[in-house]
Amino acid sequence: MSNQFDVIVIGGGPGGYIAAIRAAQLGFNVAAIDEWRNAKGGPAPGGTCTNVGCIPSKALLQSSEHFDHASHHFSEHGITVDGLKMDVAKMIARKDTVVKQNNDGILYLFKKNKVSFFHGRGSFVKATDGGYEIAVSGDKPDTLTAKHIIVATGSSARQLPGAAFDEKQILSNEGALDLTDVPQKLGVIGSGVIGLEMGSVWRRLGSDVTVLEALPTFLAAVDEQVAKEAKKVFTKQGLKLQLGVKIGEIKTSKKGVSVAYTDAAGAAQTGEYDKLIISIGRAPHTTGLNTEAVGLQLDERGAIVVDGDCKTNLPNVWAVGDVVRGPMLAHKAEEEGVAVAERIAGQHGHVDFNIIPWVIYTSPEIAWVGKTEQALKAEGRPYKAGSFPFLANGRARALGDTTGFVKFLADAVTDEILGVHIIGPSASELISEAVVAMAFKASAEDIARICHAHPSLSEATKEAALAVDNRTLNF
Ligand code: FAD
Ligand code: NAI
Repeated sequence: MSNQFDVIVIGGGPGGYIAAIRAAQLGFNVAAIDEWRNAKGGPAPGGTCTNVGCIPSKALLQSSEHFDHASHHFSEHGITVDGLKMDVAKMIARKDTVVKQNNDGILYLFKKNKVSFFHGRGSFVKATDGGYEIAVSGDKPDTLTAKHIIVATGSSARQLPGAAFDEKQILSNEGALDLTDVPQKLGVIGSGVIGLEMGSVWRRLGSDVTVLEALPTFLAAVDEQVAKEAKKVFTKQGLKLQLGVKIGEIKTSKKGVSVAYTDAAGAAQTGEYDKLIISIGRAPHTTGLNTEAVGLQLDERGAIVVDGDCKTNLPNVWAVGDVVRGPMLAHKAEEEGVAVAERIAGQHGHVDFNIIPWVIYTSPEIAWVGKTEQALKAEGRPYKAGSFPFLANGRARALGDTTGFVKFLADAVTDEILGVHIIGPSASELISEAVVAMAFKASAEDIARICHAHPSLSEATKEAALAVDNRTLNF
């Protein structure tokens, strides 16, 4: 096999593997390098998302939600369950199987698209006349060259100074997804997406979960009305939320982990937990990439500096996904990967950063796209708001899940949809309609006039659009 390629992609997460496939579809000779190892040391492409992120977390959320339903909601349907038990080892083994199916799926897709896969770490060696030389270290060291390089090396969990992850007592997302028992008392630092999702998993299985958050505001990036509802529901479910704390010393012992902190009122507190998850954001990952060899520019956070088109400071070197600016989301990484491959082919790849959806997979789910009400107020942009509660939706009643609402924000003059915010059942699926509508610059009236199937949760979306003009039909 020749080691000269048109495009080399370093990193096989959603940004990298999708970029490699799209570049191959466009006729390029592509190499993809990824260093992730499975438990047996073999290749496990898919990155954080597949191995220790999106996929395993959703597998555990599903298992724990089944348990929660069987414990608390089956009886409403006349179903009695005696001797309900949770086999954590089996749940984790199922999660591992789901992960492996996804790893294998990506290896199959590389083969199908004739992408040459190299298992190992990729690092820059030097710029050459026609491009760049990349070394692959690993079980089979190699040297590759290509004109175009796409860097998609992702991110890793941010450490809290003085509290290194040991993945036994002090856990990052990796340890939090691999617990062998349900901890009696679980501490979580950071009430962001990981804290809430992982906190939900273990709370549903019986943990007493306390979340310690530095900011005084809960879910500051979320629409205020949604964040308020979420706080109310999560608290009712038993999640203990402490906002506005300042974390002090964290100590581990045989008994567990103790966290000293100052609460919002300024009082000194100590939390004692069996396990502690630290989820305070993620840092761009460029370890071992040897950026210095070619002078690839990083910013003060360690992210690779790119322009709006994912071009770095070096000719024909591109970077996508968590390792660059913007939201750390798998679908954002994928969109950038596709766009870069198309730009290399001379096409006009495009990512609309204004309509990237966000989902928090708690119960109820939280999903949104576009601007929040507080952002519109801060901008001074005139808007109209309309919302519709799931309580008034027939399908939600039949499901037995009537928490939350759909909320539309539309321009006061043109009626263009500026933001849609959902808290409630299947919010992760319902948000797509809003994304499509915004991509086509639809007005709230457009959604209000489209026929939605009955009975469906999507009728709440239509009704919220009607509410913008004060003419809901079912509320
Ligand atoms: P990554 O997925 O991090 O992949 C980078 C890959 O590059 C890794 O395989 C790494 O080993 C490899 N690599 C790094 N350096 C080198 C090198 N020098 N040589 C070779 N290989 C290298 N996002 C969502 O959109 N939805 C979710 O539900 C969601 N859930 C999440 C849950 C958790 C617990 C976590 C931690 C994250 C979650 N995310 C979610 C975020 C999502 O995982 C990331 O945004 C996404 O994985 C970023 O993709 P990426 O390709 O940029 O990087
Ligand atoms: P996050 O940025 O979502 O939340 C971190 C939280 O920790 C914030 O609320 C922050 O104020 C708080 N914090 C920071 N420093 C602190 C400190 N010293 N003490 C107490 N609190 C502190 O980060 P998280 O949850 O680690 O997730 C990382 C990223 O992974 C997310 O931003 C998201 O991009 C991605 N992700 C996406 C998911 C999804 O799409 N469903 C699921 C999980 C992760």
